[in-house]
Amino acid sequence: MPTTAPVPREKLINQAGEIKVIPTLNAIVDRVFKVLGNNNSSFNDLSDVVKYDQAISSKIISIANSAYYSRGVEIFNLQRAMLTIGFEEIRGIVTCLLLMENIMKKLRLREEDLLALWKHSIGVACAARILSERMLVEDPQKMFTASLLHDIGKIVFYLAVPDYGELLREAKTADTDIVVLERDRFGVDHQEIGYIIAVKWKFPHDFAQIIHHHHGGGKGDGQDVLFRIVNIADRFASNDAIPQSTEVFILEKERNAIAFEVEKIMNFLQLV
Ligand SMILES: [Fe+2]
Ligand SMILES: [Fe+2]
Repeated sequence: MPTTAPVPREKLINQAGEIKVIPTLNAIVDRVFKVLGNNNSSFNDLSDVVKYDQAISSKIISIANSAYYSRGVEIFNLQRAMLTIGFEEIRGIVTCLLLMENIMKKLRLREEDLLALWKHSIGVACAARILSERMLVEDPQKMFTASLLHDIGKIVFYLAVPDYGELLREAKTADTDIVVLERDRFGVDHQEIGYIIAVKWKFPHDFAQIIHHHHGGGKGDGQDVLFRIVNIADRFASNDAIPQSTEVFILEKERNAIAFEVEKIMNFLQLV
């Protein structure tokens, strides 16, 4: 049961509008999203963007030297490190690093909340990427990035509602969708709040739509396959019961591979 006074809808919406992390980063975030979102972008395009961000480039070099990739030869430069890791893998890692270092950490969530949200987001991203690859729909990297962001609206709830973690557990125990509890209690859910952030931060249109409709129920410009993939990946990563379907069959078969991938990314981000 909630222990604090309810936070009204307006306050949450204002808070979403006030998050000020992105403006200072607009230029690099914009460029990275463009490169990541473009199927034709090359290795050089990506390294051109990344080389100006010291935190990300030094992290990539240290990942190339980690046990996953290192073959005993020490790597000191960014190009070499990126070649060692591989383009697709680099795209995924850069996306995570960018969001983690530049967005999630700066929003000053409590460590345990940040970890829970981030681990969930990576799980959904890995599952959505596999679904997109296997079913030959959409660009897997686009699905990965969009899924990493799908619950971004929860950040505002974590920041504004002291017992939000409690509410999430309550939803789990009662087997109720969290958005129903959020709407009951606050008059707004994390999809709507996330959408406000997505628009403010100028996320690509499809990303904003996914953030807005990932719990189902919305239509969103007829791009149903986008929502379906993220929705199923979301429920799979949350261990919810999902009706049997081709997508669920694929994810069940890949359960271990997904868990391994999540673990690997959490390791790279030094979150474990
Ligand atoms: Fe969600
Ligand atoms: Fe989610």
